[in-house]
Amino acid sequence: MVGRKVGIVGAGFVGATAAYSLTMTGRCHEVVLYDINSDLAIGKAMDIGQSTSYSPRGTIVNAALDASDLKDCDIVVITAGVPRKGDMTRADLLMINAKIMKDVVNNVMKYSPNAIILCVSNPLDIMTYVAHKMTGWDRRRIIGMAGALDGARMAYQIHKKVGYGSGQTRAMLIGDHGQNMIPLPEISAIGGVPLDQIVTKRDMEDIIARTKDGGAEIVKHLGTSAYYAPGRAIAVMVEAMMDDSQIVMPSSVMLDGEYGYKDVCVGVPVVLGSNGVEKIIELDLDEQTKAKFKISVDSIKEGIDILKEKDFFV
Ligand code: LAC
Repeated sequence: MVGRKVGIVGAGFVGATAAYSLTMTGRCHEVVLYDINSDLAIGKAMDIGQSTSYSPRGTIVNAALDASDLKDCDIVVITAGVPRKGDMTRADLLMINAKIMKDVVNNVMKYSPNAIILCVSNPLDIMTYVAHKMTGWDRRRIIGMAGALDGARMAYQIHKKVGYGSGQTRAMLIGDHGQNMIPLPEISAIGGVPLDQIVTKRDMEDIIARTKDGGAEIVKHLGTSAYYAPGRAIAVMVEAMMDDSQIVMPSSVMLDGEYGYKDVCVGVPVVLGSNGVEKIIELDLDEQTKAKFKISVDSIKEGIDILKEKDFFV
């Protein structure tokens, strides 16, 4: 059963914005920020802690000076990792972030052995897989945040196109958090009205393309990754688990036969509650979508295979 202490590993823009978002709704008792740069964690914890003076409900915000300060968290959000730079190959980046993930996960196992882990580090589906393999925990307790963000981006693009239904748009996607993600406009809706009855095919293609490109489009303008929407998406998932609200949210989870796949983490709709992933919902996919899903799963498996070839899991 989930309580009310949330650890956030990585006090960069995404981690800090998630912390800020959580304190603004006041749904958790305590947020602990941890970063290898202690000053960053301390400064952000102070700033966010001071902002709670005007929140509807108080939240304690602390910096963890040492990994041991992350003790007894109910949920640990992992945002730590480095972005791809210069001449780094995808394999180099994978290895670096997988090693960071391994260290963080070891600390979570030591100090918060009953926690639910919410992975945010990229490449998302592969890092979620790493957390599974490192912990060996029940698969309900390891969840990757991707669909919550990509779905919000798709809802935004839909609103931009039609000009109404803000806050009423529910968009569903499956697949990886990357170029092979699969937006599903046929089961997305504005106020319950199916999207394909509102939007033309051409507009739909545009919405899909801009959703897939959502992260990169922001990087082009900011020179850095997005953080407000990712931070809010993290908070929504954390709140759903703390409140046991049983909401349906596309999330990256370990499949064990669902959708015909095993031993891979990929985005599918799940029910979120106090045990983490309460249920995986299996959509009845048409042949075309099944083929796209296979491409998406294969792209994730390719990344996992790179780690296997480098003996990461032994
Ligand atoms: C994004 C990156 C951070 O989608 O995953 O914005």
